[in-house]
Amino acid sequence: MNSSSLTPSSSIPTPHPLTWGGVECQNLADEFGTPLYVFDTGKIKARCRELRETFIDRWPNTAVRYASKAFLIKEMARLINREGLGLDVVSLGELYTALQVGFPPEDIEMNGNAKSRDEISLAVSSGVGRIIVDHPDELRTIEDLAREKGVKQKILIRVAPGVDAHTHAYIATGKTDSKFGFPADASEGSMLAEALKYSMRSEHLEMTGLHFHVGSQLFDPDDNVRGLAKTIELVKELKDSFGFVTRELNCGGGFGAVINPSVPPVKCASFTDPMMNLLYADCKRYDLEIPRVIIEPGRWVISEAGITLYRVENIKELPKLTYIAVNGGMADNPRYALYQAEYEAVAVKDIDAPIYDPGDGTKFSIVGKCCESGDILIDDAKLPKLSAGDVIALYNSGAYTFSMSSRYNRLQRPAVVFVENGEAKLVSKRQSLEDMIKDEI
Ligand code: LLP
Repeated sequence: MNSSSLTPSSSIPTPHPLTWGGVECQNLADEFGTPLYVFDTGKIKARCRELRETFIDRWPNTAVRYASKAFLIKEMARLINREGLGLDVVSLGELYTALQVGFPPEDIEMNGNAKSRDEISLAVSSGVGRIIVDHPDELRTIEDLAREKGVKQKILIRVAPGVDAHTHAYIATGKTDSKFGFPADASEGSMLAEALKYSMRSEHLEMTGLHFHVGSQLFDPDDNVRGLAKTIELVKELKDSFGFVTRELNCGGGFGAVINPSVPPVKCASFTDPMMNLLYADCKRYDLEIPRVIIEPGRWVISEAGITLYRVENIKELPKLTYIAVNGGMADNPRYALYQAEYEAVAVKDIDAPIYDPGDGTKFSIVGKCCESGDILIDDAKLPKLSAGDVIALYNSGAYTFSMSSRYNRLQRPAVVFVENGEAKLVSKRQSLEDMIKDEI
């Protein structure tokens, strides 16, 4: 055999396996099992840095509260704390998780449209920085509990600014008829005016300002700008009519995440700069003090850093339709089922392998193992030819997947691994069968 016969022919390209955080995804799947949520913490930290450098450091008197509903486990709360950001929580579970890892309570705010007394009680007793009030009844509960504890609780009132954001209807939250927030009407006798007067009279409530959030997975910064413009009008009315000075404005989150790593990501500043420019201009125009500005991004911080690994269980070829069934699905990612969310997948063994197209219009659907026809991950996937046992990765699946996972069909909750600089760390174990039944009597 001469040496040239050992040289690979230039016509056979070398496979290009998918790595995430410097770790080969095939190895992650083999070591930790699938489905598997994998987060590149380097990418999460880069987003936190971008928030600090292009928002907090660029604009005075600003802060970020990561919306933990997008993804929260203990290690994520620790990371956010180390990165110098605060946390937005909406439930006993999210607040408890944060407190368990020693998250500074003053950097936590509690949101939510139907807070229970227990939730408000833990928030007040643990000393959370702010409670965002969504209903007039909450005022009395917060006041009672703050009185019991002998404290004055800082609050903001959430308003629905009447903005129909460009996104899926289920995740648009700023319309006038939204279930969230107080209607944006500051006239005498309105819900907002009454709540404001109540809190201004109370010894145990410190009303600091207003909150709005127009929706999620936004790509048009104008959605937030319109929400802010309306909210500043309210700030002016509250000052003129009731002498109330808004010291804080929370503008919510919503910045969108892109489908795969080759698409340029949304810049934080493309959302925050237009909002801050408007704020400065309008405050000057209306002769208002510039309030502290808080934002609450969730998806943008985490989604593109996360991928989900699945193993192909089987492939079913029907006329013009091929089902690629994987060992997860709507129980670990219900987002297609709920919002027809679009995803892209790659075969981890070779991300450059040519897309398989038999040329007869066959559609390839990636489906899960749950007992529903709507259990779809990607309706019309573009992938190389796959076989049972192959591992695929779903890009941009870090947000609202683990956090919205369910126990449907009694599937075990997948594990979570953090990767960075070639190292992998298990941060949440796959749910065991014993754990699945441990609370059952
Ligand atoms: N602030 C408030 C008050 C919110 O309601 C939300 C999201 C956020 C901040 C964070 O929004 P983000 O920056 O993550 O877009 N399950 C849906 C998304 C629901 C968002 C709910 N609220 C999904 O999977 O797309």
